[in-house]
Amino acid sequence: MFERLESVIPDPILGLMAAFRADPDPRKVDLGVGVYRDDRGETPVLEAVRRAESALLARQSTKTYVGPAGNPAFNEAIERLVLGEEHPTRLTARVRTVQAPGGCGALRLGAELIRAVSPDSVVYVSTPTWANHSPLLSGSGLKLAPYPYFDPATGGVQFAAMTAALARLPARAVVLLHASCHNPTGADLSPAQWRELLELLKRRQLLPFIDMAYQGLGEGLEADAYGMRLFSAELPEVLCAVSCSKNFGLYRERTGALQVINETPAAADAAFSHLVRIARGIWSMPPDHGAAIVHGIFADATLRTSWQAEVAAMRQRIQGLRHEVVKQLRQHCPQRDFGFIATQRGMFSFLGISAGQVRELRERHHVYMTDDSRMNIAGLRAQNLEYFARATAAVLSSPAR
Ligand SMILES: Cc1ncc(COP(=O)(O)O)c(C=O)c1O
Repeated sequence: MFERLESVIPDPILGLMAAFRADPDPRKVDLGVGVYRDDRGETPVLEAVRRAESALLARQSTKTYVGPAGNPAFNEAIERLVLGEEHPTRLTARVRTVQAPGGCGALRLGAELIRAVSPDSVVYVSTPTWANHSPLLSGSGLKLAPYPYFDPATGGVQFAAMTAALARLPARAVVLLHASCHNPTGADLSPAQWRELLELLKRRQLLPFIDMAYQGLGEGLEADAYGMRLFSAELPEVLCAVSCSKNFGLYRERTGALQVINETPAAADAAFSHLVRIARGIWSMPPDHGAAIVHGIFADATLRTSWQAEVAAMRQRIQGLRHEVVKQLRQHCPQRDFGFIATQRGMFSFLGISAGQVRELRERHHVYMTDDSRMNIAGLRAQNLEYFARATAAVLSSPAR
């Protein structure tokens, strides 16, 4: 059966990772892979995670299945984290949460639910969006279409063009939004823009599907949930894919959840029953380890405080790097304004150079980023900031490629 298969082209990010590993130059800088790095260039296990994990291993008495909806205590903790303690949807029992293998699993689960109910729905995604949105969402059979989002001229959101495009969508179209730390651009919606968008979605009866993969890494745990909390309070239906990969550093434990807001508790129960059935048909039961760690952190006030401090430290490091890199670039490339990097949020920004210049950065200067010039700010360090700025200056002043 498989003898006629031809190899597909691997994801370019995997090729970039392999090229970086194989590069023997000690000056090499990895700005490609989307994981947080500390000032030693490592992606550490968070202290709160380590302690919750030790406690879990000491007390765990079984490895039996958790059930297709996952760990209810984790699901409740995630509801509190994302929506806050007193959110109206929680008080009126209109929210349901199903654990999923990472934010990716949650995105796919949401897409499968939409396809089951409305197979002709189109999911509108920002231009650009995270590269994996396309295979994850269209793999369910749904069609994807773009809406304008990033404005390369300002490094911000083209909000007027975005709302003009969304205002033309048919009722029940699905709009995928990044809760914070937009990947790949770092350009986020302001609270005022979220409020304006809310009125538009209400008026046009559009369904928001919010991707929340970086809560806490933009403006803060509360501020990064602003749009999600507002939409959930004001709209009859919202989907939200939550990832614990970045803010808990649980990447390989595949920890996430899909949250569904419905108009009534009965509708929420029905949606939940479908989600459980869909999950059962894809992965059957989600992995437990990461979810049990997250629950352990939330169940212990000391661990929770320590985790919040660690998230704040990650956020502050990224913000500090954003300001530092702008300073270095201003010094070494005065002909170009990179100030937008400091106004953006989260791990990513586009440097705004051509694919040829990206190649030159890689081949001549050992600085690795994806061809669209997306760079992971957390990959920078005090030791390589100046080197990076000088390399960028060299590439900008060499003949166009
Ligand atoms: C925008 C966005 N959504 C979702 C995810 C899902 O992450 P995971 O499946 O690792 O939890 C990521 C991870 O990089 C992301 O950047």
